[in-house]
Amino acid sequence: MNVLDRPPVPPASSDARVPVFVPYVGVDTLKHLTDALDVGWLGMGATTKEFEDRIAAYLGLEDRYVVCTNTGTSALHIALLAAGVGPGDEVITPSFNYVADHQAIRATGAEAVMCDIRDDDLGIDVASAESLVGPRTKAIVPLHFAGIPCRIDDVHALARRHGLRVIEDACHAFGSTAGGAKIGSGGDVQFFSFDPVKVITSIDGGCVVTPHREEVERLHHLRLLGVDKDTTLRYQNKRAWDYDVVSEGFRYHLTNIMASVGVSQIKRVDEFIASRRAVCERYSAAFDGLPGVRVLRRDYADVSPFIYSLRVAADRREALIEHLAARGVDVGIHFVPVHQHTYFANARRAPMPVTERVVDEVVTLPLHSLMAERSIERVIDGVRTFFA
Ligand SMILES: Cc1ncc(COP(=O)(O)O)c(C=O)c1O
Repeated sequence: MNVLDRPPVPPASSDARVPVFVPYVGVDTLKHLTDALDVGWLGMGATTKEFEDRIAAYLGLEDRYVVCTNTGTSALHIALLAAGVGPGDEVITPSFNYVADHQAIRATGAEAVMCDIRDDDLGIDVASAESLVGPRTKAIVPLHFAGIPCRIDDVHALARRHGLRVIEDACHAFGSTAGGAKIGSGGDVQFFSFDPVKVITSIDGGCVVTPHREEVERLHHLRLLGVDKDTTLRYQNKRAWDYDVVSEGFRYHLTNIMASVGVSQIKRVDEFIASRRAVCERYSAAFDGLPGVRVLRRDYADVSPFIYSLRVAADRREALIEHLAARGVDVGIHFVPVHQHTYFANARRAPMPVTERVVDEVVTLPLHSLMAERSIERVIDGVRTFFA
């Protein structure tokens, strides 16, 4: 069977297992991909620019700029460099975060220092972050965990008090809103990830969103080996041969091929988010009130849910995981806190009572865009039969 004859919505899971993540790959994805291959310009080009323009339109950006990269990690790396972060500086971020952020901070030559999170939304604890501020502090990287907006106004107030930059990790939150506006449409700098399991994917990819016009050119240089002129010409599927190299730089650009997948996905993002929200609300309605269980949210109206995280009594988590596995339901753990990893064990950090407790309680249940009804029911049934 030709790939383009496949059904438009592939089965979200097999009957054997319900995986934690199932990337959406439909006939529309394949069509965009084959069209992009036909153009004959595989590297960064006009489709990369189209994806950036569509991200800007979707987020409703005014006087803010989008720079696509090949991962969310590289987006943070160049966002930090453009913000002037470097050796001798400190950047505050929760330990309850993906290691990508901590590695990107270290890659600038700065130190990642780790704060605690709040017990209610698992977002950054601003008082804990403030306790770490010192003369070397340059920036804060808060995280919108699972797509749930963190207390970003409090983070900005803290940043104003101490003259810090805020680079929001919005990797889980493409399409979430805070204070009625899409995350990315205000504040300082944000970065997103379009890796294979995110709400929309470009296979791998990411972007920086910035209001600082003067930093955009720097981001372009950092993204592509420090070469000047290249971005403008590549956006027309052309290359400059009389270029200069004006700064350090990396191979962090997003190719036309990856961007074509991103374009196919962003066209359907509202549909993906609506379907994920509905699943999260069903999960919360089914689990709220079960003994030993805490749901993060009942109402997902402002959330573009990347994962569904459930908190269960720490001494029952392993048994729950086994119970679900026996019913063919996979789970994930977000996150192993970064201070527990060997490479980061000596990082400066605040006391972390909430993080230490939460990491033994969280379990990530399967959540897919356009998730199959039988998969949703299996997850609900698996959790309820365990706690019943
Ligand atoms: C919270 C968080 N930050 C950063 C990243 C890094 O994004 P990427 O995988 O696109 O490099 C991820 C990816 O999973 C993430 O979950």
